[in-house]
Amino acid sequence: MGWDTWIGEKGAVAPSLYAADFTRLGEQIDALLAAGCRIFHFDVGDGHFIPPVTIGPVVLRSIAPMIHAAGGVIDCHLMVTDPAHHFPEFASSGADSVTFHVEATDDPRGVGAAARAVGLAVGVAFNPVTVVVDAVAFAEEAGAELALCMSIVPGYSGQPFLPESCVRIAELAALVEVPIQVDGGVGEENIATVRAAGARVFVAGNAVFADPDPVAAYRRIAAAGV
Ligand code: DX5
Ligand code: ZN
Repeated sequence: MGWDTWIGEKGAVAPSLYAADFTRLGEQIDALLAAGCRIFHFDVGDGHFIPPVTIGPVVLRSIAPMIHAAGGVIDCHLMVTDPAHHFPEFASSGADSVTFHVEATDDPRGVGAAARAVGLAVGVAFNPVTVVVDAVAFAEEAGAELALCMSIVPGYSGQPFLPESCVRIAELAALVEVPIQVDGGVGEENIATVRAAGARVFVAGNAVFADPDPVAAYRRIAAAGV
């Protein structure tokens, strides 16, 4: 099992739980599972690679059983300085995949191998300032099965989509065979354009959870893009 199986032909919308209502986290996940959502994006910030400390293994352990019981997976986006240090605990807490940043390490091969050694699928992410061809070389060395093109500066949900991201996604799509994920400012209004550029996994935080009805929002975004 891995990214190819999880996404399928059509692609997928992955709600970013960072933007959820944490007083009702289980309820919101349940409702999204019932609506057919099977990939949940879990944003981990260490207060160093990005300014905020976000959510981590304690929360992951609470939600993993319900997601796995429904056949879903948890995609952990590690916005941290030392990703490999965290892999064993993420694996034992229920993570299915870890995506680490090009900007966080100069050892893609070692870090990718460390993730696979504990049974995690591997994604590689890169920031808006990073040169696409450099990210591709890094992802290949890491043996990544997913490439994540950030369409915001990582740190917070609710930022606007950086329009130049579409050119970067298209450039990436011409260079890699692995599925492309896009993260930041994606919603109903731009998902079709992002898809046309070559992305297949669409992270959506605010667009889902800032809506009074997150399930309806999820369905609208999915209908517009996958
Ligand atoms: C930001 C995170 C994103 C974020 C996306 O640092 O990596 O996953 O939660 O949220 P939206 O969709 O609101 O930009
Ligand atoms: Zn993210």
